[in-house]
Amino acid sequence: MSEKFFNYKTVDDVRRQAKEFGLDVTFEEKLQDVFKPVKIGTRTIGNAMGIHPMEGCDANLDGTPGELTFRRWRRFGRGGAKLIWGEATAVVPEGLANPRQLLINEKNLSSLERLLKATRSAHREVYEDDSDLLVGLQLTHSGRYSYRRPLIAYHHPQADCVTYVDKSKGITVSDNYPVITDDELERLEDAFVFAVRRASAVGFDFVDIKQCHTYLLNELLGARIRDGRYGGSFENRTRFVRNVLTKIRSELGPKTMIASRFNAFDGVPFEKNPVSGFGEPIPFKIPYEHSFGVHRQNPLREDLSEPLELVRLLCAHGAAMVNVSMGSPYYNMHYGRPFERTPDDGYYSPEHPLVGVARHFRITGAIQQAFPDLVVVGTGYSWLRQFFLNAGEANIRRKRVTIVATGRGAIAYPEYAKDARETGSLKSSRVCLAISYCTNLMRSKNNEFGQYPAGCVPRDEVYAPIYKEVLAKKPKPTQEHAEVH
Ligand SMILES: Cc1cc2nc3c(=O)[nH]c(=O)nc-3n(C[C@H](O)[C@H](O)[C@H](O)COP(=O)(O)O)c2cc1C
Repeated sequence: MSEKFFNYKTVDDVRRQAKEFGLDVTFEEKLQDVFKPVKIGTRTIGNAMGIHPMEGCDANLDGTPGELTFRRWRRFGRGGAKLIWGEATAVVPEGLANPRQLLINEKNLSSLERLLKATRSAHREVYEDDSDLLVGLQLTHSGRYSYRRPLIAYHHPQADCVTYVDKSKGITVSDNYPVITDDELERLEDAFVFAVRRASAVGFDFVDIKQCHTYLLNELLGARIRDGRYGGSFENRTRFVRNVLTKIRSELGPKTMIASRFNAFDGVPFEKNPVSGFGEPIPFKIPYEHSFGVHRQNPLREDLSEPLELVRLLCAHGAAMVNVSMGSPYYNMHYGRPFERTPDDGYYSPEHPLVGVARHFRITGAIQQAFPDLVVVGTGYSWLRQFFLNAGEANIRRKRVTIVATGRGAIAYPEYAKDARETGSLKSSRVCLAISYCTNLMRSKNNEFGQYPAGCVPRDEVYAPIYKEVLAKKPKPTQEHAEVH
């Protein structure tokens, strides 16, 4: 289906669309607050523009950064955004999402340090000073999406039926598939604390305890039906993150800056309708007993009572900043990344992407308003193309967010912040088109490494030939599949 959602020439066109849909998405013509410094913990960054964690699946097979990893981080360094949220980095090999994800261990530390230094020096080459730049590292365990085998926190009936134990054979997680044990989780807490110690020792300005996108720590937050110390009550479901934060504070003191990217709304798993190709929820029962931030009587809506409690708890344990996200890139990606065109293994968006953008803004706004002094980083801007900073500017002025960051927008257009500063606007010829080629590359595994590198195909010359190779290897679709893919 080739419906074109984004057909706006001016900010007014998008405004009109938002008004027509009754959505609270507003824009400011003149950029000013995005250029103001922001205080984060004991540091101050030079502007309110950020870059979200964007892994490129281009690490070496031992988890050290590869050539393209260095290239991406340097480009981010030169870009001018003052918050660079370094990408997903596994704390143990069994928690890797793919064979080319970064891995933090003793052996890889010096190369991660070089990556950080390269990013900072790229920044200095353009701006001379890098004392107002913050570079962090996202620490993760991929849980259900660990590529060696899924490590699940509990049996989520809808997620299980789309979680593959062996994708090539179509084998999914069955009811008797083992759940990660309490003892394993306790050991993993220590792995996170080790990783935090290592990351801060080599000079990362902050570490992110990742609790988003339905990876392990996110899944634990919704583990209502899990038995034992890490399931059931909110207290048990947040035990892991509380223990990690407490151990960090007692072992490393207050100097290590802690942040967390978390899902404020998991949503429910969707699948493609085989006839229409649109995404639709996998049937579920009410009250809904799974996931985080969902309304139990209507899980298509958010219920922010627990996410707000989580933020309170993170602050009480010394977190300096949160990054609000939502959804799963595996089973409901229209929530997390409003898109123009579906990835090959996805579905047509069941909603207009502007509705998804408005959901991000509404939920992030509610969190920021509940915690007005907390640094809150917002997500979901890239689909707005050259107008995303105008929306960010409005959100900052309306106190719905502190820092406006972009993910796909940053791999398309790393120097967006510099251009905005110099010209007051963004170049439409450089922005993300949200056509999911980067995600298609992430999902492509049939090369000698078991993983293709991911980047922006339309905007970054490195990735067009890689994408061509991927397409050339793809089986030609039958007529039936060509129509509904
Ligand atoms: C290729 C690719 C890699 C990503 N890598 C990460 C990651 O390492 N960690 C993370 O939290 N999110 C990751 N994301 C999600 C983005 O950070 C971001 O949340 C998402 O793209 C929506 O924001 P946007 O509209 O600005 O792109 C990734 C997304 C894509 C498409």
